[in-house]
Amino acid sequence: MSELTTERSDMWSSSFIFVLAAAGSAVGLGNIWKFPYIAGENGGGAFVLVYLICIAVIGVPVMISEIMLGKLGRASPIQSLLNLCKTHNKPAGWSAIGYMGVVTGFVILSFYAVIAGWVCYYVLRLFSGEFTGASAESVGSAFSEFLASPLQVTLFFTLFMVITIFFVARGVTRGLELCVRYSMPAVFVLLIVLIGYGVHTGGMAESAKFLFTPDFSSLNAQAVVIALGHAFFTLSLGMGAIMAYGAYVPQNVSVVQTTFTIAFLDTLLALMAGLAIFAIVFAEGLPPDSSVGLLFQTVPIAFGSLPGGAFFGGLFFLLVALAALTSAISISEPVVAYVSERIKATRAKIAIGVGVVCWLLGMGSVLSFNVWSDVKLFFDWTFFDVFDKVSQLVLLPLGGLLIALFVAWVLPSTIVNEELGLVTKQRQQAWRVIVGVVTPLAVLVVFVVELAREIFGF
Ligand code: PHE
Repeated sequence: MSELTTERSDMWSSSFIFVLAAAGSAVGLGNIWKFPYIAGENGGGAFVLVYLICIAVIGVPVMISEIMLGKLGRASPIQSLLNLCKTHNKPAGWSAIGYMGVVTGFVILSFYAVIAGWVCYYVLRLFSGEFTGASAESVGSAFSEFLASPLQVTLFFTLFMVITIFFVARGVTRGLELCVRYSMPAVFVLLIVLIGYGVHTGGMAESAKFLFTPDFSSLNAQAVVIALGHAFFTLSLGMGAIMAYGAYVPQNVSVVQTTFTIAFLDTLLALMAGLAIFAIVFAEGLPPDSSVGLLFQTVPIAFGSLPGGAFFGGLFFLLVALAALTSAISISEPVVAYVSERIKATRAKIAIGVGVVCWLLGMGSVLSFNVWSDVKLFFDWTFFDVFDKVSQLVLLPLGGLLIALFVAWVLPSTIVNEELGLVTKQRQQAWRVIVGVVTPLAVLVVFVVELAREIFGF
């Protein structure tokens, strides 16, 4: 018998497995696909610095808050928040954070699975040896040709969605740990191989300079909003994914320690991916701002010229697909957990329902890159841009802001201090200032500046 006093039977079996699962959620396409291309689009060093500051000042406190809320509420994010409001006599309206997270989950999963589908396709392409000795040009056009085919993209998007739903249907704790335990160290090793390749081809010095020498003249307000949004996205914050996982955390897990470990791993992997990819960019003379195609237009070149590259390249994309899978599972968790509490249906049926809705939404993103590439909803955004930008630039930061405010100003400080082991007065005050003032203010300032930029156009 465990000493846990909770009604949940599906706990993570140890704190290590929780760290694995949370890291599995955090590390995904955000690190390997997205971080490099947005760093490239926003000029490199200065953007990276702002992103690192956002992780430390905003991401870490919000992650601590989310895990703690899950652990205290022991249910889906919506229900956890309702439970906490009820127990402490606070307005139930705060559970809106949970509802917003459910909507955000649908939005993110829909486009996330599309990109993960591209990755699945690249697994096969690399294993086939097609890129052996291929030039940057042919790798680039192979990508454009693939995107131009709605049928192929739909096929792989659907494949990834089906695999995700299969795992979600089986429940979070099973399968996930195996996946993360072996695939994450393997991604790490292959990134080291790619970095070694970068050193060998001579692109690494320029890559490191690009990513780590801040040039503030290339930084504008929009880049700051993107960095902030990405800090939330990459750490899986602001929509309840980590909160939902926190609900299954064993009582003895240290929330603070776990958060630092996850944030460190996530940042490390993103920086490694960035270094590896920009080394290829500079060695090949490619443009650093190649947008969503950057990963697919660079990494195959490197593996194409390495011995055993077809195998290791295929393996690399396979591992990225697995990392995406462990993230996708976590994106669906707040929704699936909530619906399971509400209606008497099997988890499998609920998972399939969620999958179908996401699939329908995701088709908008699939077609954004071909048939509907000229369909612009607002500004000059395609369906994909809308899903991507609205979730990352608005929904996640807003969710994070409200979570920080809830933890600092609504939840009684005594239970927070106890949960986080804040024994001294100074520590309690420091935490309160960070999560209650610094974090929310930082998000607000970034928002207001961006809004002003949109309106006054500076
Ligand atoms: N953190 C994941 C990644 O970097 C994506 C994610 C976003 C997962 C939001 C859960 C919630 O790929």
